[in-house]
Amino acid sequence: MPEVASYPGVALITGAASGIGLATVRKLADDGATALVLSDRDEVGLGAIGAEMEARDVPLMLCRQDIADEAAWDGLEMGIKHRWKGLDTVVVNAGISDSGPIAELSFADWRRVMSVNLDGAFLTLRSGMRLLRDSGAAVVVSSASAIKAEPGVGAYGASKAAALQLAKVAAKEGAARGIRVNAVLPGGVQTPIWTQMAFFRDMIAEHGSEQAAFDALAAVATPLGHYARPEEIAGQIAFLLSPAARSMTGTALVVDGGYSL
Ligand SMILES: NC(=O)c1ccc[n+]([C@@H]2O[C@H](COP(=O)([O-])OP(=O)(O)OC[C@H]3O[C@@H](n4cnc5c(N)ncnc54)[C@H](O)[C@@H]3O)[C@@H](O)[C@H]2O)c1
Repeated sequence: MPEVASYPGVALITGAASGIGLATVRKLADDGATALVLSDRDEVGLGAIGAEMEARDVPLMLCRQDIADEAAWDGLEMGIKHRWKGLDTVVVNAGISDSGPIAELSFADWRRVMSVNLDGAFLTLRSGMRLLRDSGAAVVVSSASAIKAEPGVGAYGASKAAALQLAKVAAKEGAARGIRVNAVLPGGVQTPIWTQMAFFRDMIAEHGSEQAAFDALAAVATPLGHYARPEEIAGQIAFLLSPAARSMTGTALVVDGGYSL
């Protein structure tokens, strides 16, 4: 068994059309990915990053899919096996947010968050564990909300805590084949996930710009006083996938400006 697989090699990234996923695609391409399998439900965003990677001559497979659709994963697994025989690196990233106290959370909203953030993470990691070559590596994008309770993030926090545990179990299961699985736990990151939440859109209106709204949020509970840029998280994901982290598995890398302290 090789001590480390080729990095980034053939890489699968979910949620590749926006935010942290998009920045990770660019980072892994910069690091010399042999091929990229990019998954997202956003057809327009996926087409845009696909065109960008084609212009850089990176071999590509684009998969417009709902991350929680099991049948789509069956097809994707077959396609990857046929074209590259397997994967070297996997980034389990697609996710959505929610907000609202438990007493007011509808069961439909709870299920929606669990479906994307937990069922989707499970299906991605399951395919990843089937496809990763010996000594390959995966990173699960969890959240600081997995380890810090705050009002209003019941479904999101529970889904991210479960995804973290899934990563740890996968780390133990994969170790015999040299496969490493780690999790990254970001605090606030400046991505479009925030603009999907009504309270943040209200904050933009109140503070005059998206940046000012992010800064106002960070001032409340993040000791370092700023939210991360997606490129920072992409760098940390790349580190965990790379040979520099060859002795790290099952870890939770917290990247939150001190939010969870
Ligand atoms: N931004 C933050 O502050 C923050 C903090 C901690 C963790 N995270 C996590 O980082 C990950 C990436 O989030 P982001 O901030 O880049 O958000 P984002 O909204 O910019 O990107 C998420 C991507 O996932 C895709 N996606 C969502 N649901 C999907 C589904 N059902 N099927 C397929 N694709 C789907 C979206 O189309 C989008 O391209 C998420 O798992 C999120 O929970 C984000």
